[in-house]
Amino acid sequence: MQKLVVLISGTGSNLRALLEASEDAEFPARVVAIGADREADGLLLGEEFGIPTFTVPFTAYPDRDAWGAALIEQVRQWEPDLVILSGLMRLVPPAVVDAFSPHLINTHPAYLPEFPGAHGVRDALAAGVEQTGASLIVVDNSVDGGPIIAQERVPVLPDDTESTLHDRIKPVERRLLIQAVLDIANSHLDLKELSRS
Ligand code: GRF
Repeated sequence: MQKLVVLISGTGSNLRALLEASEDAEFPARVVAIGADREADGLLLGEEFGIPTFTVPFTAYPDRDAWGAALIEQVRQWEPDLVILSGLMRLVPPAVVDAFSPHLINTHPAYLPEFPGAHGVRDALAAGVEQTGASLIVVDNSVDGGPIIAQERVPVLPDDTESTLHDRIKPVERRLLIQAVLDIANSHLDLKELSRS
């Protein structure tokens, strides 16, 4: 059974999908802890699903490196096989990448390398593209530039707002994430190998 630690900043709707998938006894992974960098709504899912939560508030530390060190300490306690950034709206410092990569993955609401960064959906809309997408990547020290695990196109519709487009992208992110967790747990996907190539 693969142990997952999931880090969030927001509502955790992608996390919810993962928690629901892992309720199936056949699913080969379990979320062992949920962490956040702030008082995120998604932490309530911990109560709902009986999963421990922790918060490492970004603003409580003098700088990103100090926050990262505290985050590493919290995450390590759970001895995760895989750490998932599922809407963690912070760049993690290099020490976090060193501690967990390549078993540190991130979902992103755009078809990378298009529209990296915190506003992937907004930037795609502003660029007037006809399609954007969802991506799942291995986290490295770049901004959303790590090896791509999986990605899929999502059309941009004429009346889309940032919120309607994001709502159409998220189910794709969830599907990619759940499939990748399955593939990793079943040894059909080797993140070390992917990161080497
Ligand atoms: C997702 O689109 C994720 O890729 C982005 O933030 C969103 C998180 O949504 N970085 P939620 O908290 O899972 O609802």
